[in-house]
Amino acid sequence: MSNKKMITAALPYANGPVHIGHLAGVYIPADVYARFQRRSGKDVAFICGSDEHGIPITIRAKKEGVTPQDIVDKYHEIIKKSFSDLGISFDEYSRTTSENHRETSQDFFKVLYEKGKFTEEMSEQYFDEQANEFLADRYIVGTCPNCGNENAYGDQCEKCGSTLSPSELINPKSMLSGNVPILKETKNWYLPLNEYEDFLNEWIIEGHKDDWKPNVYGQVKSWLNDGLKPRAMTRDLNWGVPVPLPNADGKVLYVWFDAPIGYISFTKEWAAKNGKDWKEYWQSEHSDLVHFIGKDNIVFHCIIFPAMMKAHGDFVMPKNVPAFEFLNLENDKISTSRNWAVWAHEYVEDFPGQQDVLRYALLSSAPETKDNNFTWKDFQTKNNSELVGIFGNFINRVAVLIHKYYDGIVPKPSGFSINDQLTLNIIRNIPKNIAFYLEKYEFRNALNEMMNIARVGNKYLADEEPWKTINNDPARVRTQMYIAVQISAMLATFCEPFLPFTSKKLKDILNLKVIDYPRSHFSPLNSMILKNSINIESKVSYLDLEWDDFAYILDEIIPANHQINESSLLFSKIEDDVIDFQIQKLENTKQSNKKTNPNANPMKDEIQFDDFTKIDLRTATILTAEKVEKADKLLKLTVDTGVDVRTVVSGIAESFTPEEVIGKQVMILLNLAPRKIRGIESQGMLLLTTKPDGKLSFVTPDDSNVENGIEIG
Ligand code: 2FM
Ligand code: ZN
Repeated sequence: MSNKKMITAALPYANGPVHIGHLAGVYIPADVYARFQRRSGKDVAFICGSDEHGIPITIRAKKEGVTPQDIVDKYHEIIKKSFSDLGISFDEYSRTTSENHRETSQDFFKVLYEKGKFTEEMSEQYFDEQANEFLADRYIVGTCPNCGNENAYGDQCEKCGSTLSPSELINPKSMLSGNVPILKETKNWYLPLNEYEDFLNEWIIEGHKDDWKPNVYGQVKSWLNDGLKPRAMTRDLNWGVPVPLPNADGKVLYVWFDAPIGYISFTKEWAAKNGKDWKEYWQSEHSDLVHFIGKDNIVFHCIIFPAMMKAHGDFVMPKNVPAFEFLNLENDKISTSRNWAVWAHEYVEDFPGQQDVLRYALLSSAPETKDNNFTWKDFQTKNNSELVGIFGNFINRVAVLIHKYYDGIVPKPSGFSINDQLTLNIIRNIPKNIAFYLEKYEFRNALNEMMNIARVGNKYLADEEPWKTINNDPARVRTQMYIAVQISAMLATFCEPFLPFTSKKLKDILNLKVIDYPRSHFSPLNSMILKNSINIESKVSYLDLEWDDFAYILDEIIPANHQINESSLLFSKIEDDVIDFQIQKLENTKQSNKKTNPNANPMKDEIQFDDFTKIDLRTATILTAEKVEKADKLLKLTVDTGVDVRTVVSGIAESFTPEEVIGKQVMILLNLAPRKIRGIESQGMLLLTTKPDGKLSFVTPDDSNVENGIEIG
């Protein structure tokens, strides 16, 4: 049986922060799985990092007017911090711009090259002569042949959703210069995926029909049915890992070639720091490789990366590729460009100390088999009715009663009733059930099982009503509270993969870390005993117990006479105003998405017509203009307003020379109170607007024959 679990989570592009869609569809389930496997005694490497190459990065850099390196430096830090704030327990979170990754991915490429696994092919690609660059498909815009949208991209039309190739676009233009690109011959290295069809069919279609998720299996099958084609593994770009061959200037590895190798290079980094051998996780039959991904990554993880590893020859194939569907937000597709998202870093700021609430809400609506929806109202209900109402309520009642009746010391039981035994019997199966579901990647079912511990606990207290029995039958209450404490300890233990922050708090309240057990409590077949087969008389700490070990002590995780600490609130109610604030935030996004110009500022506060009539706007002509001494931005103007000739100081010197403005007809706000600027009294303000290049331009009358002093309105 494999003892190693090599768990990867899709590398997020470092072109923006992560949002709840990423968390629900990859990172939180992957973290639950990794935590569970660690607790089950597996040797886990849970690896991820930022995907810092590819067109998404360069597009973002162009948009923000900075370099790709600036973009990845900024977002790598934001993403890494969000993951750590939300308790995603990566063993390594690195980045694909690291030196080690460059070397590892170049070495991988060289192995394939030297083994003759690539074909070299010439093709015609669009080239921007002015920018002197080959154009990635995303950098070409033109008219969609299917719907006539004039702003379709070379790879896709966002209006009709059709997949395109640049040669299909009508009137293609380069996004870099706006010019018409030319077609130019270029050489690239291709992996003939068609040669791997038999291997993929045998390995996945025949071998994983029953244990891979139907959405993953189905997508792979459909790709294979359609037949695979050779695919270029290099690109003509200036951002990426350089192709490690002579005469390959200006060529980089295709981002989908280098990114999955990131899993390997980051494992190497982790192994080097921790005295491990990375090959034992990637190149050994005793290691299970599991990729957590979103559904849009299936082809890369189930076809392209396996074909690359097969071509290389030294790697094991993934055991499973649990891919998730997508999460929608308030019934609309999550979109970074439309800012329709709940951003992880904003959640952490808006809900301090409530990371587990998000983990819980997202796990319970994880898009496992179909797209799912997140709403803030549902989030509130999950917190208030389930975490506060079920989990928190149970723990609170137990902690309060144990302190009230016994000063926090766990009482000794005296004989179990039928209901006691029934209750213990029900929850005895829960850890096994959780494990069963997690091994099948059914996170919602696993979470539900965990909550059943609290549900059973609440029902037990409600049936037994110890607060009613305490005066007549204190001995019975000691047994009831002893059982309630055991249920609390189970919750603390088995909620850890899902709610790590809560688990830690609850373990502290129950003071579990000081408890140890005689080794003889555990069966000789128990995994832990086998691993550390030392003196059977010695003790085992609670902290060292593995998931299955608890089966031997479920009726007494906490022995009688154990002292419990003061209780603190595990969850608190989320009020309507907090939720309304979040809903309003999304409403604002919706409004600003309606803008025809995304750069337009939002409208100012509404005014009444009377307010407008107070404003006296007139046509006027600039008569003289001179620079204001020691003020780079200012010109001193004399202006004929038709009403008078007056002085106006205007901040236009960086956009116009004095000579350019003399004689210009302009519009002036006439009744603005005079104010002193650099010692000169300015009497009025000229109306100006800003051009796309940042320079100012005058608002002028459409008709050049307008007299001065004519009112505008
Ligand atoms: O789709 C994405 O966001 C990619 N950055 C995922 C890469 S996963 C892996 F292969 F590195
Ligand atoms: Zn279209």
